[in-house]
Formats: sequence, structure tokens, C-alpha cells
Amino acid sequence: MTDSPSMTPIPVGLDDDYAFTKIALSDGRLIAIPSRGRIGRSGVTWVHQGQQRIFEYETEETVYSVGAVDGEATHFEGYPMSGLNRAIVQHILQDAGLAGRTVHAVSGLPVSTFYRKNGQLRQGTIDKKRDSLKIAARPMAETLPAGIAFHDVIPEALAAWYDYVITEKAGDAKLDPDRLSTPVAIVDIGGRTTDFVVVKDQGVVHASSGSLQCGMLDVKQQVANGIQERFDLETLGEQLVAQAVEKKSVRLYGRDHDISSLVDCAKQEIVERLHAETRRQLGLGVELDQILFVGGGTVALAGHITNWFPNQAIAEHPAFANARGMLKYLRYVCEASDAA
Ligand SMILES: Nc1ncnc2c1ncn2[C@@H]1O[C@H](COP(=O)(O)OP(=O)(O)O)[C@@H](O)[C@H]1O
Ligand SMILES: [Mg+2]
Repeated sequence: MTDSPSMTPIPVGLDDDYAFTKIALSDGRLIAIPSRGRIGRSGVTWVHQGQQRIFEYETEETVYSVGAVDGEATHFEGYPMSGLNRAIVQHILQDAGLAGRTVHAVSGLPVSTFYRKNGQLRQGTIDKKRDSLKIAARPMAETLPAGIAFHDVIPEALAAWYDYVITEKAGDAKLDPDRLSTPVAIVDIGGRTTDFVVVKDQGVVHASSGSLQCGMLDVKQQVANGIQERFDLETLGEQLVAQAVEKKSVRLYGRDHDISSLVDCAKQEIVERLHAETRRQLGLGVELDQILFVGGGTVALAGHITNWFPNQAIAEHPAFANARGMLKYLRYVCEASDAA
């Protein structure tokens, strides 16, 4: 690795979604950080640089803090084109050691943001997102920014389909002809939403595709409400709740409390909603060759998603399926036509 900027652009699959920002790199690395940050400086001075946990970035003359902050929710409309998004993306690129490098990236937008109901592209929104990430975001520290020189945008769950149909073996990529010709459904269980995409004859079937406002953040919300009620608390930090869901235990006033039943109940409730909605959306799946579950929610709920359909499968490292597909799209679809 060298400190001087290199001319060779680094291809990055960049799944910059609402709950987590995930990247896939061509050396096989997969990295995820919470999409967590806020406007303003952190107000913390780090005694030891190595222990720094909040990082500051400036873009369009606004400073953002990213990292271990109780972040503003990224759920606001317009997040994909915001300065906060650019700061979080710059942070993950820095994390990946790409300071000073030129990056070529493909990122995503939720299916319902990318297409209108009738299948038309929302071109204005797509253009805005594409341009937004090309605006510079500069670390407020002694490191060079990573610069995004090329950026294309595809629908998030469709990225997982590219991951499924483009197979790589020993550095060689090929379109799998069997996978390409069969109808497949992708179910992407994310933070805020669960997205459905049905792909048939290499086209999106819009009637069976869409977004359900239900995801892992609903589990977090329910657990937060449960903790507040049980311990009579008025507010709870977002990071504390995230940890509580993950560890099924919450630390309050220096003592750990087991909350497994609360977490299990919340998960069960979401799973039942997802099951009912997936059935409604996909029927029994008889005409589909495969129903592929992806997204971080698939990891968290894997134990509950058994036997929904006889032809279901869980993608490898499901939380990274979109990021991997975006990288494949960049390397084998964009760059093939672009001769980069
Ligand atoms: N490796 C993991 N293990 C357990 N849960 C996870 C994992 N990765 C993500 N999750 C959970 O899945 C949720 C959705 O993750 P993800 O699909 O990355 O979100 P989004 O794409 O909507 O930003 C997260 O909020 C988290 O609760
Ligand atoms: Mg996602």
C-alpha cells in the first residue's frame, strides 16, 4: 500500500442504505458500518488517535460527525442525496484504506425510489443521487479524501440479482445462463423496509415487486418501547438499543438485564408480518424457480425464515449481496461497455 495517490481507480460496490453502509471490494473484502452520523463537530478531543471513535467530514461547507455518535436517523426523505450520506460514504472509504485514491462506484436506491409504480424510471431522482456522491467530502484530519470519479446507480434488490446471475470462478466472471433465464424473486429484509423484486426474462416484473415498510428497525423500536416500559425510562440512546437487540441484554446503571424474551417476541411479530406479506406478494412461489433472501435482516432472522417456500435459499453473506452485485455490475456490465 502506498501513500501517494495512484492513478488506477478502485472499483467499489457501495450499498449505502439507511441502516448500514456496506461495501464490496475486488480483493474480496466486505466492510459494513452503521449509517450513523449527525451535523456538526463531535466536540470531543481524542487523547490517543488510535482510539478515535468519531470522525469529522466536511462537504459543501457543512461538517458532519460519523462513527460512535447517537446519530440522527437517516430515515429522512432525501437521505440518499444528502451531505450526511456523503460523509458516511467517505467514512467507509477511509475505513477501507482508500484515502487519496480514485474510486469508481455503483450504489443503489430502494426499488420504490428508483421506479414508479408503472415501471418508469424516476430519472430526476436517479440523476440527483448519481451527482451527489461525486461531490467532494473531505476528512477534517490529516488524511486525503477518496474521490468518486465514476458513479452509477441501480435498484438495490436488483443488485442482489446481478450477484446471483454473475458467477465468479478463479477470477473469471460469467453470466450463468440457467440463472439468467429462470424467474427469480429477491426478498431484501433491510433496516427500514423489506423490498421484493421479481425478475423474469431479465426484466423486473413490477406487479410483483415493491416495498413493505417493515424491517429490523421495527424490531429495535419495539424492543426500545419494551425497555422503556419495563425500566420506566423516558429516553433511550439508539446505540444502546442496537446493542440490546444484538446481545439480548441491556446495561442500565451499571447492571446487565436479560431481555431475550422481549427481543424474541419483537422478532416473532415482525417475522409474522413479513411472512404474510411475502406470501401475498409472491403467492406460493410456484412459478418462481428460486426465492432468494438477502439483507441484514435475513442474517438476524435466519432462524425464523425456514420452510416459507420449498424453493427458497439464503444468499451467501446475505447482508452483502447487494454490495457484491453492485461491484459485479460495475466490473462486468459498466466497465465492459465503458472500456475502463
Ligand atoms: N451480521 C448481522 N447479524 C445480525 N443482524 C444484522 C447483521 N447485519 C445486519 N443486521 C441487522 O439487519 C438490519 C438491516 O441491515 P441491512 O440490510 O444492512 O440494512 P439496510 O440495507 O436497510 O441499511 C440491521 O439494522 C441489523 O439490525
Ligand atoms: Mg439494504
